[in-house]
Amino acid sequence: MIGVLVSGEGSNLQALLDAGLPVSAVASSRAQARALERAAGAGLPALAFPLEDFVDRAQRDATMANWLQEHGVRLVVCAGYMHLLTTVFLERFRDRIVNVHPSLLPQFPGAHAIDDALAAGVETTGVTVHLVDEGLDTGPVVRQEPVPVEPRETLLERIHAVEHRLLPEVVGELCAR
Ligand code: GRF
Repeated sequence: MIGVLVSGEGSNLQALLDAGLPVSAVASSRAQARALERAAGAGLPALAFPLEDFVDRAQRDATMANWLQEHGVRLVVCAGYMHLLTTVFLERFRDRIVNVHPSLLPQFPGAHAIDDALAAGVETTGVTVHLVDEGLDTGPVVRQEPVPVEPRETLLERIHAVEHRLLPEVVGELCAR
């Protein structure tokens, strides 16, 4: 069973659902995330774990990990999840957490990868699916696909299209293991 972590729009969550992958729970860092509506629309248990409701990050992450495990989650997918995960969460799902990131890591980690690639003037950027560790977009790469920067007007949508194909593909393979 897959648990998906989200913070925003949830288009990658939607791609996982559309691919028929066995998502059993969706957890969000933000109560207002559109992704929570998508999850509820799909009839899935969906809950926000905003930091301000907890003493600290570790307590939030432990509570979130408990909730996911109660829903049978074995594989965690960060799909536009904008917080770092603390050790308590990583240990619970060691080597069973993946993230999708809109650049060819290790180039352009962080929250502004597409703008950073444009500002750097590179010809090619891309999409990475990687295992999550304590760092910011630093875990081992599972799969990458390059995307040409030009035409830059459509870069964002072309990157998203690759994410929406690559993430379900990799997650499907991890589930089959
Ligand atoms: C994606 O571009 C993902 O790579 C990045 O944040 C964006 C999330 O989009 N980490 P969505 O919430 O899945 O629509």
